[in-house]
Amino acid sequence: MYRKEIQQLLNDLACVDDINYYHSLRTGYYLSRFVEVEAGKQFLKQAWVTRNEFVAIGLLHDIGKVRWPREVLLASERLRDLGRDRVLQAWNYIIEHPLGSEEIIMEYYKKTGNRFWERIAQGVAAHHENYAGDGYPLRLKGSEIPLSARGLRLFDYFTGATEVRRHSKYPRRPQEVLQFMRKGLGTHFDPYWGERIIEFLTNVQPPQSLDQWYEKELEHFLSS
Ligand SMILES: [Fe+2]
Ligand SMILES: [Fe+2]
Repeated sequence: MYRKEIQQLLNDLACVDDINYYHSLRTGYYLSRFVEVEAGKQFLKQAWVTRNEFVAIGLLHDIGKVRWPREVLLASERLRDLGRDRVLQAWNYIIEHPLGSEEIIMEYYKKTGNRFWERIAQGVAAHHENYAGDGYPLRLKGSEIPLSARGLRLFDYFTGATEVRRHSKYPRRPQEVLQFMRKGLGTHFDPYWGERIIEFLTNVQPPQSLDQWYEKELEHFLSS
């Protein structure tokens, strides 16, 4: 029953930026695999989110970027190429985007009163907060950060670092990224769940076709 809305939001993102579109699908893919394993099931219980809510948090976390002006969206990864004023403008957009995502999703909550949207909004709003309290936009710390966002933080970092981005055509190797992430347990990442998510990511298969996965995944949202 949420299929149409989720598809519409992601289509909007695909229209402005295919890299962020596939980044969102890839993040959703890993979350959908995580909730199949025992650690993932435990995680859902402790985070008080359903399977579909958690996958939707992954799919929609960067949806606030649809509001970015094209030049910021397409240049934001090469800030050194911009002039001073445009660097400041770009930073504003970067810092604001989790709240932008929250706002877009809360529109659906306001319209329907359905807590499905509210729980997704809570997760996306905090997806750049760091466990030690030096993330953005609110500098939340430790358990102040909703657990769904603390979990997403690891998947988002992993997908971002291992895929092709505008500033780097050469994605980093998954094992190297995971090793680096291990050093961020307790600072960037939730130490308890971080360890479990890193272990999961060490063994999980990457997607064969994100488009095919997405088509199938959308069927879950017909009945949620
Ligand atoms: Fe983000
Ligand atoms: Fe992201």
